[in-house]
Amino acid sequence: MCGIVAYIGHREACPIIIKGLKRLEYRGYDSAGVALLNGDLNVYKKKGKVSDLQAFIGDKDTHSHIGMGHTRWATHGEPNDSNAHPHYSSSGRIAIIHNGIIENYASLKTLLQSKGFTFYSDTDTEVFINLIEDIQNENNCTLEEAVRLALHEVVGAYAIVVLSKEEPNQLIAARKGSPLVIGVGKDEFFLASDATPIIEYTNEVVYVNDYEIVVIKDGKLNIKTREDVPTTPYIQTLQIELDSIEKGGYEHFMLKEIFEQPRSIHDSMRGRLVAASNHLVLGGFLEFEKKFVKAKRIIIVACGTSWHAGLVAEYLIEDLARIPVEVEYASEFRYRNPIIKEGDIVIAISQSGETADTLAAIELAKSKGATIFGICNVVGSSIARASDAGAYTHAGPEIGVASTKAFTAQVTALTLLAMMIGSKRGTIEDSKLRQLMIELENIPAKVEKALELNDKIVEISEEFKDAPNCLYLGRGYNFPVALEGALKLKEISYIHAEGYPAAEMKHGPIALIDENMPVVVIATRDSSYEKIVSNIQEVKARKGRIIAIVTEGDQVIPAMAEYVIEVPETSEILTPLVSVIPLQLLSYHIAVMRGCNVDQPRNLAKSVTVE
Ligand code: M6R
Repeated sequence: MCGIVAYIGHREACPIIIKGLKRLEYRGYDSAGVALLNGDLNVYKKKGKVSDLQAFIGDKDTHSHIGMGHTRWATHGEPNDSNAHPHYSSSGRIAIIHNGIIENYASLKTLLQSKGFTFYSDTDTEVFINLIEDIQNENNCTLEEAVRLALHEVVGAYAIVVLSKEEPNQLIAARKGSPLVIGVGKDEFFLASDATPIIEYTNEVVYVNDYEIVVIKDGKLNIKTREDVPTTPYIQTLQIELDSIEKGGYEHFMLKEIFEQPRSIHDSMRGRLVAASNHLVLGGFLEFEKKFVKAKRIIIVACGTSWHAGLVAEYLIEDLARIPVEVEYASEFRYRNPIIKEGDIVIAISQSGETADTLAAIELAKSKGATIFGICNVVGSSIARASDAGAYTHAGPEIGVASTKAFTAQVTALTLLAMMIGSKRGTIEDSKLRQLMIELENIPAKVEKALELNDKIVEISEEFKDAPNCLYLGRGYNFPVALEGALKLKEISYIHAEGYPAAEMKHGPIALIDENMPVVVIATRDSSYEKIVSNIQEVKARKGRIIAIVTEGDQVIPAMAEYVIEVPETSEILTPLVSVIPLQLLSYHIAVMRGCNVDQPRNLAKSVTVE
């Protein structure tokens, strides 16, 4: 939620910032703005996309070597020009960009108003910058000191960058709860919410920790704690390729990411699984092997699509490792005083590694003594760092707001984990394990085959693009897939969709079915096949329009369904990796046909760093 980027160095700052904002636009796109220091401190900001900001800037003089920019996902105050960041302080001397939420902004604002401060926006961020100014006025101190003192006053989450026209060779930044990365170049520095705006210039980065303040001044980088104690920046070298954050000829990131899945699933297994040599290793697991083997219970916390991957993992771990699993929405878990017992393991799943509720659920579980195993895609992310151990999914950057390749990579990593726990606990026979290893290795090729269905799915999408509602049904391993299919459709095409366990249909949703209701049934050949065939009959008897996802060669369902999509056969427990592909494509094409902005759906942001 909200993207921030800043630059200080020998190049022109504005083009770097604008390009960086475009890379970060997936985080929020309600408004955008830049502040540039060149004698004066000039702010340009506009409601809408970064392209609207660019048009607004036009040929204004943007010459500067220090600047910062912001792309907003509105929390306090509607999306408009005045609520857009950067925000000036009352005097116009200093300016700020902010990602996060200041929870005690209302009381601070009242206090500042009583001291004569004027506010021009509805944002908590403007309170933050005026607080800094007030502290600087009262203490007659440097900007750095004022920022440091202000951080003790604010409650909430933030990643901020502050500029002052009185201290023109300096960028100050700080973080608590919202991500912030420093790019370290030659005589230049970059700051951003993630590494994507940076890697074009340098792959040397420093991840800022909570409660740290960054001061970049006269070509030097200094990091201190909020208590003013210097820390040593830990510079890491990133392996991200520039290609992986560009569209590469596809119309949308989402489509590119759907088609990347044979490779991203393969990458999730790389070095971890080689069936021919019976090699199965998940690095992070080894550290906690004993705990996993003895675990009495596993709790999975996640949100959205990652929660759906968690549901698949519940089936996998209970099937293969025979450990009871509970899957929790992180947002509920963190507020309901959950019972955590000694020996419980909490698996936190997150593509971005920055989801605020998941992070808070981890902190809570940790405080109650649980061991945290993180499954994250973004290397160095907050959740990865807050976990005791874990496994990266290695799907590569996911830019489309609708999660696709991250889901299949999460399911792949979780399958490897379930196989490892099962093999160490002796709950999975060697022959079954071997067979699964071979099957899992074959999944990328099967996903490739499922992607060949694209043209057929375009035709089906044409038929259903105007439907106001849609029901998704699945059983067993395909139940989480039904939820995921419904989520994909609603988030990018704005069609109301519900996912249900097929048997639950009779307990309510069946009342919705008539000749206008499309029902997507995921009915691959598995242990509940006969049951789901009966469910299809029930839909058909009520004239529902059935789109069935079936296993190649199915002879029964084609006679009942209006449209049939055949996916390659695989082992039942690996089915989600294949059966989700047509659902991703269906939602994508329907959204495009409805003229929706697929990569930046309304009201959404890629990573939800506020609760
Ligand atoms: O980064 P995370 O995996 O923690 O994100 C969780 C959800 O916000 C995310 O999966 C969201 O539901 C996606 N937009 C779904 O496509």
